[in-house]
Amino acid sequence: MIKLLRVLVFPLLFVAIAVPIWTSRIVEGQSASEAPTGFDTLTNDPTFVSQATHDDDRGTFEERDDVVKGLGPVYNAQSCAECHQNPVTGGISQISELRAGHNDGSGNFVPATLTINDGGGLTGVTIANRSLINQRATCPGVVTDLVTHAVIYNHPNEQAQERVPGAETVRTRRMTTNLLGLGFVESISNTTLQNIPNGQPSGMKGQVTFVPVAEANNALRIGRFGWKSQDASLLTFSSGAYLNEMGITNRFNTAEVTTLCDDVSDTTRCNNNSNVVCGEDPDNDIDAFARFMRATKAPSRDARLAATASAQAGASLFHSIGCDICHIATLTTAPAGTLINGGAFTVPAALGNKNIHPYSDFLLHDVGTGDGIAQVIDPNTGQLDQTMKNKMRTAPLWGVRTRNELMHDGENYTRNEAILRHANEANGVINSYRNLSTNDAKEPVDRFSEFLVTRLGTPWVGPALNSAGLTYLHCFAEPRLRLHIRKAR
Ligand code: HEC
Ligand code: HEC
Repeated sequence: MIKLLRVLVFPLLFVAIAVPIWTSRIVEGQSASEAPTGFDTLTNDPTFVSQATHDDDRGTFEERDDVVKGLGPVYNAQSCAECHQNPVTGGISQISELRAGHNDGSGNFVPATLTINDGGGLTGVTIANRSLINQRATCPGVVTDLVTHAVIYNHPNEQAQERVPGAETVRTRRMTTNLLGLGFVESISNTTLQNIPNGQPSGMKGQVTFVPVAEANNALRIGRFGWKSQDASLLTFSSGAYLNEMGITNRFNTAEVTTLCDDVSDTTRCNNNSNVVCGEDPDNDIDAFARFMRATKAPSRDARLAATASAQAGASLFHSIGCDICHIATLTTAPAGTLINGGAFTVPAALGNKNIHPYSDFLLHDVGTGDGIAQVIDPNTGQLDQTMKNKMRTAPLWGVRTRNELMHDGENYTRNEAILRHANEANGVINSYRNLSTNDAKEPVDRFSEFLVTRLGTPWVGPALNSAGLTYLHCFAEPRLRLHIRKAR
């Protein structure tokens, strides 16, 4: 457990800030307009997805599935919104997931193999080569109808509960990530992401992943979704999530993780196309999930705070010490009409040529926090890409004001702790962060919480003038803590 650092007083902290000449690291087009933002459950463009359809899609995303629908046998929760909800449906939550595996003799990560149904002399059932460890199971369970009390699910003598075997020593938790605004992220072209490393210093260049798009016959596209950038399409991710989080088979994932205590047929045809097997998702809810996410607005900043001099000072520091080498402030989506996802999706006007501010490059970096899990298949070898196992996707900082457990494993409770935990590729930047105030080297420091706080959302007030005529901001929580600002020349 990382010790909580106390906010200390640095009355002589001088920070030169050149606001007017400040330029951010941005990757944007000339004519692009701003993407709509807001935590308001409204469609991002009614000409793309009407509010009525968006409301219906939200209903599907919030729907709690049960054993009659096909929940499980192994699963993590009953609805997408059970995990993706804060502050509105599609956001984040405190819910984390479990992954595990081990390293073989050559040091390569191998996903876990585990046995279920092994209690009380039962016949064990093996689930092999799968790093996701589901936290819930429908059996042993007996479910009765709410009205008639007739038994509708009857598996008291089977046990599908998964647990991490002792031999699977590489283990991690993964926090739920934000989905709001992801239609814009999906609409970033491969070229834009591929070019980002060219602008990053050597030793800090993000790793690009190439991942299959299910709806385009597994054509490869540059990954951007998930803690390992393990997906590129929201439809592909929805299909995987429906199976992996809820145990609902669907048209791109027709096989259950285990058939133990699985009652609902996985060979049912789709209601809209009898040539296609939809399994437990005959209505194609996965399309509604994808459309729901594509029509959400991007997370908004706290506009009042962002307008303050302190927040602007924070933004300036964020840039000047290099946080935005990885946490890129602005990216621009591909123009409307661009075919993406291996040709399976056309960027609509609602999502095309928009500037977004995700504070991420969506690429993988080793910042010393790697969870040891390799998750993306290297297209050249057909094997897991081991070079990414100790890298994580740059956490997008948009919406970070809604999170209180930070980093992939939720192990950091303050922003300062999360920042100070960055190492390896981020060493230089984090040293600059540590060195922002060095006037009292003896004391442990949260020198910079002010910046983060201002940049990412806690109260700084000001500016005010001190007796020497210097502009400063003072911290709401600790009035003696001051951030001095020198005017740009
Ligand atoms: C038990 C909690 C849980 C449920 C239920 C759940 N998710 Fe997630 N979701 C997560 C977690 C945790 C991650 C991060 C996964 C990772 O990369 O390791 C995630 C990531 C995602 C992402 C990638 C977001 C990004 O940051 O790039 C998408 C898209 C997504 N989920 C969609 C869905 C959909 C659609 C459903 C319903 C079918 C769903 N999720 C159900 C927990 C959940
Ligand atoms: C070399 C790239 C890189 C640099 C430079 C960098 N970060 Fe990060 N940052 C990451 C990665 C990767 C993660 C995710 C790590 C994890 O979850 O294990 C992350 C996570 C974070 C988080 C946690 C967000 C969340 O939702 O959990 C915060 C806050 C953050 N960074 C702020 C900063 C600040 C402030 C700076 C500059 C002082 C900075 N970062 C510099 C790559 C970088």
